[in-house]
Amino acid sequence: MGAFAPGAWTLTAEFSDRLLARLADAKFVVAFTGAGVSAESGVPTFRGAEGIWKKSKPEELASMNAFMKNPALVWEWYAHRKKLIASIQPNRSHTALVRMEQMFQQFAIITQNIDNLHRRAGSRTVYELHGNIERNYCITCGRPQTNEEVLRQPGVPRCPACGGLVRPDVVWFGEFLPEDQWDASVRAAESADVFISIGTSGVVYPAASLPVMAKLRGAFLVEVNPEPTPLTERADEFLQGASGGIMSALVARLSAGKSGPPLTEQSLQS
Ligand code: APR
Repeated sequence: MGAFAPGAWTLTAEFSDRLLARLADAKFVVAFTGAGVSAESGVPTFRGAEGIWKKSKPEELASMNAFMKNPALVWEWYAHRKKLIASIQPNRSHTALVRMEQMFQQFAIITQNIDNLHRRAGSRTVYELHGNIERNYCITCGRPQTNEEVLRQPGVPRCPACGGLVRPDVVWFGEFLPEDQWDASVRAAESADVFISIGTSGVVYPAASLPVMAKLRGAFLVEVNPEPTPLTERADEFLQGASGGIMSALVARLSAGKSGPPLTEQSLQS
């Protein structure tokens, strides 16, 4: 277990030889991300101390029932999230994963996040399990609508083609995950040499089954999180701390090679 005491991680980053050896031999590396990856950009997590679900009830905001019962309340909340996410930038976790995509023969990100920050950072292979907050569609005719189109409409946005209610293209509780994204994620998990779970509490299924699926197929399972989760006991390596610093340190170590120069504050900030 690499111990990253708050504030000290920059200089004492410890990645085990086992992890570095597995990454050195890896052909296919997969990153599985959750809300914790976007926390350092200013996107609140769901279950943290200031988490969204501490303040609001998911059944009142993130389900089809809630939407049909009170579309104005649900839209008020999503309009707020759309504007917040449009106002922030990807952080070092996102950029570190863009760099990792250039380092390995095959690399994929499986994300539970709907904030589109991986793509905005420049990642190419991104499987979106819970949808994308930048997309919307009519629940009657399916016509897609951009954020610009929905946010300029007063109140609950309507479909210009059929007048139907428009909803964000995200997966609500009780709904199925997009089949193509799920199938691609399962294939990636089953073929990964190293599977890195970053910033997720690992309690929402079926997404939370992917790290274990990868481990059972022989992947080296790494977890990055300031707090232990139900996955920690299954992980081959638990890197405890904020992902921005840890993922930047890992990329610095990989790009410097195992026997490269020692890590410095400068190299980790770059
Ligand atoms: N770096 C890494 N991890 C962090 C950081 C950070 N800077 N800050 C917080 N975390 C960790 C927390 O310790 C927690 O384990 O991120 C995790 C966030 O967990 P959740 O808030 O439960 O978010 P997530 O796991 O992505 O939720 C899964 O639940 O509400 C639904 O659809 C929503 O996709 C979401 C799903």
